[in-house]
Amino acid sequence: MASVVQRLARQARLTFTFPPRVGEEPGRFFLENLAELRRMMFEVQAADLRLVPVPQRAESCSVPVSYMHICETEQFSMGVFLLRPGASIPLHDHPDMHGLLRVLYGTVRLSCLDRPVPVQYAVRGPPLLRSVLRSSALYTEHSGPCVLHPDRDNLHRVEVVDGPSAFLDILAPPYDPDQGRDCHYYRVLGGPEPAVSGTEVWVTEVPQPEEFRCGGEQYQGPPVRL
Ligand SMILES: [Fe+2]
Repeated sequence: MASVVQRLARQARLTFTFPPRVGEEPGRFFLENLAELRRMMFEVQAADLRLVPVPQRAESCSVPVSYMHICETEQFSMGVFLLRPGASIPLHDHPDMHGLLRVLYGTVRLSCLDRPVPVQYAVRGPPLLRSVLRSSALYTEHSGPCVLHPDRDNLHRVEVVDGPSAFLDILAPPYDPDQGRDCHYYRVLGGPEPAVSGTEVWVTEVPQPEEFRCGGEQYQGPPVRL
């Protein structure tokens, strides 16, 4: 019988072979497959990927965050982010992409914002963008996947609350700078960030924060063949 991760990859490929175009209402076929993908992702455990949440694993790593690549096709990419205690992934976007994020161990705070839109009037300095805070919540291995869409919840920040932590990440289509899908980083402007969903926020694009570095780690789980 195919492994959990193999079945998950097949479902991801099926779901994202015909995704809705940007700005288009998703059809029933897509929504049903996305729901099945969410369900399957919720069932994935760290052990299915042969991941052991040993503190030494993350402590011994020289970078705060590591990415473990599992597979990539034209339709999607899948991998695991490993985060040291206290690590974070700064606010960033996923242009024209869908995504699902499932915490495998540890506790992380996920803050999600809508895709930012430029403000119509000119101002000095970097361009101002308007967005909306959709959610800010804690996720553990007992939480369902966090889902991002091309327009909604497209920006997120990941902060380890109790670590080390790891999460499985599916992005569709994959990042590809040649196709206009590069990763951008943002900073929320103004005072303390709002915590209430639906609050309008102002953001500006910033260079990748220097303190954020992402290394690589070898995937040791069951092979995926597509
Ligand atoms: Fe992300």
